[in-house]
Amino acid sequence: MKLLVINGPNLNLTGRRSPEVYGEDTLETIMGELYNYVESMGSEMFEIQTNHEGDIIDALHAAMDSFDGVILNAGAYTHYSYAIRDAIEACGVPTVEVHLSDIHNREPFRALSVIESVCIAQISGQGKKGYTLAAKLLLTRSMN
Ligand code: DQA
Repeated sequence: MKLLVINGPNLNLTGRRSPEVYGEDTLETIMGELYNYVESMGSEMFEIQTNHEGDIIDALHAAMDSFDGVILNAGAYTHYSYAIRDAIEACGVPTVEVHLSDIHNREPFRALSVIESVCIAQISGQGKKGYTLAAKLLLTRSMN
């Protein structure tokens, strides 16, 4: 199986930005651990981080023919990007939405995810473990 991990805006600052909310690990560390997990499961993983909405959409389109699952932390786009929502739906690749923080227990605007309805699951508030849980979900799902 091939998984694509997309991290959106500001996630490049993970470890430096509000560590009490997002944790102290850098994105590089988190992705490294995820990579090891996915590899140990006999699967492949590719990862991108971008601060641009269109790049996320392009990556989802590219995933259509090349990936079996997508793990997406769309950052703040989660809360208002119908364009990303439509791209997830259009590409048809099973996508798990991940958030480091618990979006349901923060500012009210974060509680709404406009992408949730087109994702197979939302994992929120589990910190970096959320990415591994998302990978596990996608990998084990394919075995059934
Ligand atoms: C986030 C939560 C979003 O509300 C926020 O805008 C982010 C990160 C998370 O991982 O907890 O940038 O997606």
